[in-house]
Amino acid sequence: MSATPRRVEHQQTDKGYVPVYTTDVVEQPWDSYTPADHHVWAQLFSRQRKLLVGRASDEFLRAQDAMGMSQDAIPRFEDLNEVLRAATGWELIGVEGLLPELTFFEHLAHRRFPVTWWIRKEEQLDYLAEPDLFHDLFGHVPLLMNPVFADYMEAYGRGGVKAHGIGPEALVHLTRLYWYTVEFGLIRQGDDGLRIYGSGIVSSSGESVHCLESDAPNRIGFDLERIMRTRYRIDTYQKTYFVIGSFEQLMQATEPDFAPIYGTLAKQESLPAGAVLDTDRVHHRGTGEGWAQDGDV
Ligand SMILES: [Fe+2]
Repeated sequence: MSATPRRVEHQQTDKGYVPVYTTDVVEQPWDSYTPADHHVWAQLFSRQRKLLVGRASDEFLRAQDAMGMSQDAIPRFEDLNEVLRAATGWELIGVEGLLPELTFFEHLAHRRFPVTWWIRKEEQLDYLAEPDLFHDLFGHVPLLMNPVFADYMEAYGRGGVKAHGIGPEALVHLTRLYWYTVEFGLIRQGDDGLRIYGSGIVSSSGESVHCLESDAPNRIGFDLERIMRTRYRIDTYQKTYFVIGSFEQLMQATEPDFAPIYGTLAKQESLPAGAVLDTDRVHHRGTGEGWAQDGDV
């Protein structure tokens, strides 16, 4: 019988009714994974890899290969850490599940990425309301091999600690940045057009296709303040994806002190998740790009 996560309680938050776990760092209980657990990993891994070739950023796929992730078995954190530490100085730590925000930010600021050690059950292959090992490991960890993205994640952690000190509104605005980049970001990959780098997308088979191939969502050029003003959905596919040109662009755009930006945003209404503004740079599917006009989105 596999070990079970230690839930402490549930709490109502702005992200819904979420379980609260111990904040301890835990050893990955690798020997307790059952054949069924490894089978869930194998199914999700092979399904997503097939979908993601030509859809995810090449950088992401290469990083998974470089780390030695495969469908054969749930990876051991210690094996991944050897490669990751050598590449960028990041490491994974095992956790029971979602962490309180400040604890999470502090880990990132110290180049530690918390990974939920348990994996979803067979009947949850397509949807799980909270992050599990597949989302965290398959989705988040590979890009930590990229030096620029690795720096961005550390900077985000430091920004999180700061925002936490400023107040709840600043945290709401900063969380949107994480959501629309780390979780649901798209990147323009040279002449290949739009590709996925967000973990929330790469770990979802439906959204991996929807974000690129559906006409429904907006695909808008990265704009820091625009992102921080924009609400997001947790219960459906995203209404809007923001597209970066490169990880360097993301890093540079988020280098300035956010405190004055939080001040400006505090005086503005938030935008609905599906809003399109005249000033938005709208990306079309494929390689085209243009500015928003009536009837153009
Ligand atoms: Fe995530």
